[in-house]
Amino acid sequence: MNINGCQHQCIEHIKQLQGYYVLFFSDDMQGLNQDAYMSLLPKFTKNSIDTIKQTLKEIGFEGKKNQIRTLGSKITGCEDLRVICVGLGNTDALDAMTAKSCGLSLGKHISKHDETCITIAWPKAWLTPQDNHPVHPLLVGIEAGCYRFDRYKTKSKPKSKTTFYHVVPLPYQQHFSFLLNLLLGQNLAKDLMNEPANILTPKAFTERILELDKFGVKVTLLDCHQLEKENMHALLSVGKASIHKPYLAIMEWSPSNASTSQQPLAFVGKGICFDTGGINLKPSGFIEDMHHDMGGSAAVVGAMLTIAKSHLPKKVVGVVALAENSIAGNATRPSDIISSRSGKSIYIGNTDAEGRLILADAIDYTIDRFKPESIIDLATLTGACVIALGSVYAGLFSNNDILAKSLIKSGTRVDELLWRLPLHKAYDQMIDSPVADVSNIGNKKREAGAITAAQFLQRFVKNNTPWAHLDIAGTAFGTSDPVHGKHCSGFGVAILADIIKQACNH
Ligand code: BES
Ligand code: MN
Ligand code: ZN
Repeated sequence: MNINGCQHQCIEHIKQLQGYYVLFFSDDMQGLNQDAYMSLLPKFTKNSIDTIKQTLKEIGFEGKKNQIRTLGSKITGCEDLRVICVGLGNTDALDAMTAKSCGLSLGKHISKHDETCITIAWPKAWLTPQDNHPVHPLLVGIEAGCYRFDRYKTKSKPKSKTTFYHVVPLPYQQHFSFLLNLLLGQNLAKDLMNEPANILTPKAFTERILELDKFGVKVTLLDCHQLEKENMHALLSVGKASIHKPYLAIMEWSPSNASTSQQPLAFVGKGICFDTGGINLKPSGFIEDMHHDMGGSAAVVGAMLTIAKSHLPKKVVGVVALAENSIAGNATRPSDIISSRSGKSIYIGNTDAEGRLILADAIDYTIDRFKPESIIDLATLTGACVIALGSVYAGLFSNNDILAKSLIKSGTRVDELLWRLPLHKAYDQMIDSPVADVSNIGNKKREAGAITAAQFLQRFVKNNTPWAHLDIAGTAFGTSDPVHGKHCSGFGVAILADIIKQACNH
């Protein structure tokens, strides 16, 4: 599987001196990982560290956050020791946001200088199982700084990937490898989101998903004929105006020790490969980012990769609904009434409210077929959620307080923040329709737009299944996010993988 990003390896000892060594400093010039190096490399002595600090002082490096200095062969007495020094600022108050931003500075520096080999010895104090360590946000920042999506540039020379050697004591390697698998899943999600819609059609998306097979994930596809047999008319009605027909892709992870009776956790993703809005066509300025409208599916696929690569001992099923919301003579019209797999009829108030339609069928199918212990859907669902929360928090909706709490906790742990918004029968009434069982939009003023979308989904959650919906429209596109910017964030991968990891620990 060809995924953009750096190459990472977890090692126990440093065998030979090569490339650059990363040293982290606080703003009182404590070398935060100097002890780790000193115990590993004879070259790193108290003396050489003192020389490094002296040299840094002379060139104005004070350990302030985002400060980066490279010492090539400037270290008197250890000319062959090459270090990159990274300032983390006040480390008593080092939060995930700062760590990410320092990692970003380091990643950009590495990328700019085209470094091919980087070694980081991680301090033990950051590897113990606590929630507030900066390792994960640092790694995410580094990856974001190195990330490029340039496969369609013919002129710029393809640069070689940077290889990172992470020196981690054996007892901590399993957790560290999980973090590295997370980066891989997040990068896969980003890659999928960045592909243009003429390349990543629903069918091409399924081909990427089939590659998960080599990691032990069982993949099944439903094409439009099978969707027809399943009565998935809500999904079909969204995809029918495109020459690229819709698919449902099902990914199953069943670890070898899982009993057949174990109920899986289910993830469902919105995979609109391009959202024109349909006959309710989107205007310029809003339409050209809509190849990212499969961010929910990308997160589910990325999380399945992380989970399988980490061999997490819990049954998981990922279901993604893939379609292109296009326009043609046979397109669904505003005012049409369609049916759905659940049997409920749906009034189409606006063809641009398409995500909830494809999710309705996917949720109904997933609950029937897998009887999951709980179901979590992710979708770049509403502009209203972007207005409310920007790209900092994703919206969370749930019918179950325990599930909601554990998602918020996971989100805080992995720095993907969730803000719970309400569901209420008064909001539910707003999607009643005089002519069908339900309408796909709320009122004309678009009041509570993110909530009415969630209420719509809830109508398709049956058997009291614990359910949560993450509206990741703002966080996944991440257009105004200082770390990920226009390259998308891979938001959701870390929460989903962490939820499974936590379920395994209990
Ligand atoms: N994909 C969009 C939501 C979106 C908007 C994602 C901006 C990312 C950035 C979704 O399909 C949509 O068009 N929603 C409409 C719903 C409305 C017609 C009820 C919206 O939010 O405007
Ligand atoms: Mn839309
Ligand atoms: Zn959409």
